[in-house]
Order: sequence, then structure tokens, then C-alpha cells
Amino acid sequence: MFERIDHVGIAVPDLDAAVERYRRALGAEPVHRERVEDQGVEEVLFRLGDGYVQLLGALGPDTPVGRFLERRGPGVHHVGYRVADVARELERLRAAGFRPVDEAPRRGSRGTTIAFLHPAGMEGVLVELVQEP
Ligand code: CO
Repeated sequence: MFERIDHVGIAVPDLDAAVERYRRALGAEPVHRERVEDQGVEEVLFRLGDGYVQLLGALGPDTPVGRFLERRGPGVHHVGYRVADVARELERLRAAGFRPVDEAPRRGSRGTTIAFLHPAGMEGVLVELVQEP
């Protein structure tokens, strides 16, 4: 079961400029910044209630976010949903006919465990499952 929305991930071409713009718009300071080398991204999180807005900058053009920006420009890249157990949810979703991008759970930022689901089965939206450490 998906418990709630954990974050909305937004791909941006200039991370520092986007952070400044969102800082002013949300009236809040970022709570986390991290480079996730194996995903080729640097992310900044703003906390809003129980969830986050996640700004995603590409570490290079040949990365998932780099290719997304090239193809579609800045915008919503994925929606993260909080789950209690990523491995169990992957199993359940696979059995229900959904197509995972990740065959097994892997490490996300902030020590989370994550896995992505293919956008084709989710009305065009890349979906991330997020389990807190
Ligand atoms: Co995410």
C-alpha cells in the first residue's frame, strides 16, 4: 500500500537558481542537499508538512535527469510515495502487472531505500517508492 506522498521531484537546469526561486516562493529554507552520484543528480529538499519538494539538478547531460531536461525541459520528473517496505511493494506491484524500473530496492538520498516504477503503467508519471531508514 502507498501510505502518502513523500515528495514531488522537479528537474531543473540550474539548481542554485531554482533553490533561490523556491526559497522565495515557499517562504521556507531548504532542509537537505545531497549529491547522489549513482543516480547522476544533486538534490535539494524543502520540507512542507509531512512531505518534500525535491529540486533535481543533473550531474551531466548523460544522466536520467540530464536526458529528461534535454527531452522535455524543466518540470515534474517523478512523484515519490512513502511505503513501509519497498521490497514487499515491488513484489505486490509486479504481481499486479506493473513494471518496475528497479528489479530490487536500492539506496536513495537521506539513507532511504527506494525503487522506481515505469511511467508507462502510471499514466506517464515516473513513480518512486520511498522507505524511511
Ligand atoms: Co525522488
